[in-house]
Parts: sequence; structure tokens; C-alpha cells
Amino acid sequence: SITPVILCGGSGSRMWPLSRGGYPKQFLKLHGDQSLLQQTATRLQGMADVAAPLLISNQEHRFLVAEQLRAVGMGDSRVVLEPMGRNTAPAVAAAALIALEDNPDAMLLVLPSDHVIQFGDVFQALVAQAATVAATGKLVTFGITPTEPQTGYGYIRRGERLAGDAYAVAAFVEKPNTERAAEFLASGDYYWNSGMFMFRADAYVREMAAYQPAMLQAVQVAVSKGVRDLDFLRLDSDAFAACESDSIDYAVMEKTAHAAVVAAAGLGWSDIGSWSALRDVTPQDEAGNSVLGDVMLDRVSGSYIRSETRMIAAIGVQDLVIVETADAVLVAHKDRVQDVKKIVERLNQAG
Ligand code: GDD
Ligand code: MG
Repeated sequence: SITPVILCGGSGSRMWPLSRGGYPKQFLKLHGDQSLLQQTATRLQGMADVAAPLLISNQEHRFLVAEQLRAVGMGDSRVVLEPMGRNTAPAVAAAALIALEDNPDAMLLVLPSDHVIQFGDVFQALVAQAATVAATGKLVTFGITPTEPQTGYGYIRRGERLAGDAYAVAAFVEKPNTERAAEFLASGDYYWNSGMFMFRADAYVREMAAYQPAMLQAVQVAVSKGVRDLDFLRLDSDAFAACESDSIDYAVMEKTAHAAVVAAAGLGWSDIGSWSALRDVTPQDEAGNSVLGDVMLDRVSGSYIRSETRMIAAIGVQDLVIVETADAVLVAHKDRVQDVKKIVERLNQAG
């Protein structure tokens, strides 16, 4: 059977001021009436041959994770706790080692917890296709057709066809600069990496042993010295602290010779990487505004305006993002929303 591994340790700083250290974006109801994490978990319901998910998050958010899963009837999920973030390569390694304890043939479906997928039926069909490729020992990615030279994504060059919509990966380039991203886009041979992966747990451990042996060893110790606490498995703090921090994309996917990509058309995928990305997947009025909460507009267009606690009135402005919360208000041009991250860094430095 398939073990979903849901990664929920990110900080989501570009969605400030709604997303905060204590309450990052995957736990927020940004799109619809479930949080992004809850949508990720419930998207798996009704799939044949899929076990309860394994979640991996920062220990600071353990009750948030547990409560949100309970609220959607998935309280039986297992939760692994990281004492500190070491990015996704170690997180996935911990999940792989834990899954292998139960089942040497474990098949993992690694899922970010902060994406929107509009068409769950398409997702389920693609997973079934990916599973047959992953069974052969490949590390399978899900490729999204790129529409702009975004630098925040991994780019996957399609190689020879393996079966159906599945191809070998000829190259994987994580977060290229704008120039290279534009070349990749123009060539027509590249997909964006969706950030979802499917592989046998032993295949991932094999690649970690080949390319990141020190990281793998640190995670092995962190898991074996880990302690069970209520329903949680807490990784050993000293061992995990000693682990290098890196993402699965740089640490493994750029290096492995065994990657495959399933062309994932029609998912309605968005990684909600910014307020503008959220606006793109939210219903808009005739003037291109997405409005939430108590908002009054007069000759406003192309804007995302969201009030949590107080009324917002806007007059004669275009292309703005305005997000109001109890203690902070963001006003940004919609093309500058990537820089919200920098504001958060400055806030953190100011303490
Ligand atoms: N448990 C855990 N621990 N989860 C983490 C950690 C960590 O230290 N760091 C990040 N995550 C979770 C995030 O919550 C998110 O769900 C997922 O892992 C991916 O992390 P991001 O930090 O959002 O990655 P990214 O957006 O920069 O890049 C990835 O996703 C892109 C698509 O959205 C890469 O896979 C890119 O190649 C891909 O294009
Ligand atoms: Mg992301």
C-alpha cells in the first residue's frame, strides 16, 4: 500500500501578516473552508490502497497538526516531530526510515502541505500512474506545464518516454536564475516540479546513501534515538541538530540518475507561493478583484483585498494586495509580493 508523507514544517513567510511563526500558512484557511493541510489530507480519502498518512512537522506545531487532522476525521495519522527545521531532505529521510520499520516494501507519496489542487480526481489518477513507475525503483516527480519564468520552482527536463505520461528525467534544476528559467520555458522541454514525489522508501534511502551519506546517518540516529510521546514520534534533538540542512530537490533530485516525471496536466495546481498566486486561484469580480471579509471598493481593479477584523475601504487604486489582521496590515503592489519575505526577515531581526 501507499504511505502518504505530508511535509508541514515550512514557515510560509511570504503570506505574512496572516501566516506567522506560530501559525504558518499550511494551517490557515487561505482557500476554501479547510486549511491547506486539511485539504492535502482529505484529498487522499477514497483512494484505494492508501494507508493513513505520516505527517512531519516542527514540534512547535504538534497540537495544531493533531487538532486539524482530528477535525477532518483523520486523527489516526502518525506525526513525526522535528526539534528544528532541517529542510525537506532530512524530513523525507526520517519518514522513509520510519515507514521501512513497518514494511520493507513501503511506497511513499511525499506531499507538500501548502498547495492548492483543484481537481482531486485528476490527482488520484496521476498517483496511480506514478505508482507503477515508482515500483520499478524510480524517484517520480509530477511535472506542471510552466507558464512563466518563475525562479521559485524546480525545472525538470523531459527525457525518453517510459510509459503513458511518464518520462525519464534528463535534468533537474532547482530554482534557476531568471535567464535560465526563461530558456527552459522557451525550449518547451521542461516542466515545473510540483514538489510532490513518489518512490519506494528503500529507493530514497539508497539515493541518500549515495549522495548524502552524512545526512542519512544523522537522520538514522535521530530516528533510532527518537522518543514516543503521546501519539507523536519526536526525533532526537542532538542527532537532528547535527544534520545538515538541505532540500530534497538540491540534495537528491538534482543528483540522482533514477528520476522520472509524470506529466501532471489538469490538476489545477498552485503552490500559493504569494498573495498574487492566491488571487489567481480565487474567484474574482468583473474588475479582477478578489475580496474577503468586510471590504468596500470604489473604482478598484486587479486587487486582492482581505479583511480579518476591521473594515477596509479602498478608492481608485489598482493592482494592490491589502491584507488586514488584528495587529498588522500589508499593503503591496501585486508584482512586489515576493518581497513580503524580506519584511518578515527584517521583523525577525528587529526581534
Ligand atoms: N517537515 C518539514 N521540515 N517540512 C518542511 C521543511 C522542514 O524543515 N521545510 C519545508 N517544509 C515543507 C513546507 O511546509 C512545504 O509543504 C514543503 O515542505 C516544500 O517546502 P518549500 O519551502 O515550500 O519549498 P519550495 O516551495 O521552496 O520548493 C519546492 O516546491 C516547489 C513547488 O512548490 C521544490 O520542491 C521545488 O522544486 C518546487 O518547484
Ligand atoms: Mg513552497
